[in-house]
Amino acid sequence: MAIKTRSALCTAVLALAAAPLIAQTAGKTEAARDITFSKDIAPVMQRACQNCHRPNNIAPMSLLTYKEVRPWARAIKEKVAERSMPPWFVDHNVGIKEFKDDPSLTSDEIKLIATWADSGAHEGNPADMPPPRHFDDSGRWHIGTPDLIVQSPVAFTVKAKATDWWGNLVAETGLTEDRYIKAVETKPSPNGGARVLHHSVQTMLDEEGNPDGGTLNEYAVGKNGDYFPDGSGKLMRAGSKLQFNVHYHSVGEEITDQVSQGVVFYPKGYVPKHVVRTVQVASTDLDIPAGEENARSDAYFKFEKATKVTGFMPHMHNRGKAECIEAIYPDMRVEPLNCVSKFNFGWQIVYNYTDDSAPILPAGTILHVINWHDNSTKNAGNPDARNWVGYGERTNDEMSKAWVNFYYMTDEEYKSEMDARKAKKRPLTSTR
Ligand code: HEC
Repeated sequence: MAIKTRSALCTAVLALAAAPLIAQTAGKTEAARDITFSKDIAPVMQRACQNCHRPNNIAPMSLLTYKEVRPWARAIKEKVAERSMPPWFVDHNVGIKEFKDDPSLTSDEIKLIATWADSGAHEGNPADMPPPRHFDDSGRWHIGTPDLIVQSPVAFTVKAKATDWWGNLVAETGLTEDRYIKAVETKPSPNGGARVLHHSVQTMLDEEGNPDGGTLNEYAVGKNGDYFPDGSGKLMRAGSKLQFNVHYHSVGEEITDQVSQGVVFYPKGYVPKHVVRTVQVASTDLDIPAGEENARSDAYFKFEKATKVTGFMPHMHNRGKAECIEAIYPDMRVEPLNCVSKFNFGWQIVYNYTDDSAPILPAGTILHVINWHDNSTKNAGNPDARNWVGYGERTNDEMSKAWVNFYYMTDEEYKSEMDARKAKKRPLTSTR
């Protein structure tokens, strides 16, 4: 079935490339007519787009039915071809390729959409439509009933027309004893909160307000819960506060939102074998000249013990362009882990590795984070290409970092996991 579709596609692509005159009537060629919305395109939309493109969600238009999708066929082709939709910016050609909840399209799916759009974007037979995808987000938590729900301290009203708003809101957790966390999930208010909440990053603060507990959870549209691998978890200390770093944007209608952080704990007294930590590997000494297209900055973090990296999230501001992370081993060998080659400030995405793709690194490995900023007029998001810019908290300042989730392992654990991976012929990353 898949092979049939692909060969039909190849024929169509060849026909289009070789014979432009025929291509104009390509909708009528056998191969192109084979590709229809009902049979081929709708399943892709269900998997990769409808999470956001449906009524009462973040995206500007719904993509549930042929009628809704048809007017957008050209725009869809363009956005998927440049890989700006679905929002997922990790480069598929570098390093580790398996991530949890990866919505991105395969190159075959992108070609399929392009050929369909170029050949008349036909509906085909409605009887070929897959059953509609069922979205159950009516307030249900994916992580199960949380033991603790902390709400951001204020309900924030986003006016119908307003500039974007970023800020930090701090709430008490009310926790009276140290507890280990098994799973976390962040939810905007039901009834439209997801339309205005662009992102919310929760950080655990101590009683004095220092961010010593690290990042608890990051929410961006379309995100479900985060489960830490079995036997690992984060520690929430008694008396912790929670800082919500939120970004709201208006959608032409007044909407009020209040973010909820749900937490599922391990049983009282349980201490997981591995404690997940989050570190910001940041370069704060930024010097980005006016007009510079490729201002590079470097940051380093040394893992003192053997480590498993469970995920990372690039963070820059409007001039952020790209981020690569690599491992510098104790013997100075360097291995690329991943690159986010088209960083987009509007999408704060955590790239969580699957359990058996998560890089495991020997003690003493240095994580090297390389970021590039574009302060030229070529960057449409640049507030002002005439100004030098340095590090700072305001959106118009810059940042340069990766948030990295990891846990330490013993050397024995490292060795036995590495041996198991070698046996499966998948030791680490690009060596696969
Ligand atoms: C995580 C949420 C999310 C997913 C998944 C997603 N989109 Fe989007 N999409 C958005 C948002 C939000 C916008 C508007 C803002 C922007 O472009 O970032 C948008 C904009 C678009 C636009 C441009 C609309 C315009 O006004 O020009 C197109 C086309 C599009 N998406 C197609 C798709 C397709 C096709 C898929 C799946 C292959 C997809 N999107 C997946 C959230 C999403």
